[in-house]
Amino acid sequence: MTAISEDTTQRLSGQIPAPEGSVTITVKILRFNPEVDTEAHWESYDVPALPTDRVLNVLMSIKNYVDGTLSFRRSCAHGICGSDAMQINGINRLACKVLVKDLLAKDGKQTTVTIAPIKGLPTMKDLYVDMEPFFEAYRAVKPYLIAYGNEPTRERIQSQADRERFDDTTKCILCAACTSSCPVYWNDGSYFGPAAIVNAHRFIFDSRDEGSEERLDILNDAEGVWRCRTTFNCTDACPRGIQVTKAIQEVKRALLFKRV
Ligand code: SF4
Ligand code: FES
Repeated sequence: MTAISEDTTQRLSGQIPAPEGSVTITVKILRFNPEVDTEAHWESYDVPALPTDRVLNVLMSIKNYVDGTLSFRRSCAHGICGSDAMQINGINRLACKVLVKDLLAKDGKQTTVTIAPIKGLPTMKDLYVDMEPFFEAYRAVKPYLIAYGNEPTRERIQSQADRERFDDTTKCILCAACTSSCPVYWNDGSYFGPAAIVNAHRFIFDSRDEGSEERLDILNDAEGVWRCRTTFNCTDACPRGIQVTKAIQEVKRALLFKRV
């Protein structure tokens, strides 16, 4: 275990600096420490934050100044890596993309923001979930270019129209916001989930790929694409604006009409 440096110990004084123009918000976090807790419980923190701060900044303030044990994933802080999906006021969002000003109470009362881990994946600690079941489903759909025959001697040419067919699904950052907002996934963890289907779509409709049939066979399974009930939660949750439900419908159509 890494020792806490003297500097870090000093920072855990409980005093979060309040910059000029900051407002104090109450942040309720669903905490769970498997070493001491039998179940998750809410803990509240009053945090001074600037309206332009992101929720990720707020979490970092709590971690740096109040409780260094608060656990959550983050990396890029710019909506690129997909690490920090969590439920913010009950909706799956990336903490680095949500501004405090968009959460402030309109009536001037003190704002309370609730933060909980995404659903459907086992919580390991606080906001930190086990992503392995999610990535297992992702790997199962073969999310890579499959090409048989001899290696080409030149690049594989593709028209703009052909590229357009899967443009939307190339934007996925594997944050799991869609899959963990899906009621079917909550109730039946063996469903592949929207993100796996999005990433299958990205290759199924790629004119250079020769593995579409294999992937469609995989998604024709009892736990595959037919489990989708078209609730649109996934599309609403996607921080990249991907039309997730549309992608799932296109995969269903490809299966029904045996045509990509
Ligand atoms: S489709 Fe959107 S919500 Fe789902 S994993 Fe990809 S980026 Fe995240
Ligand atoms: S920290 Fe990378 S997407 Fe939020």
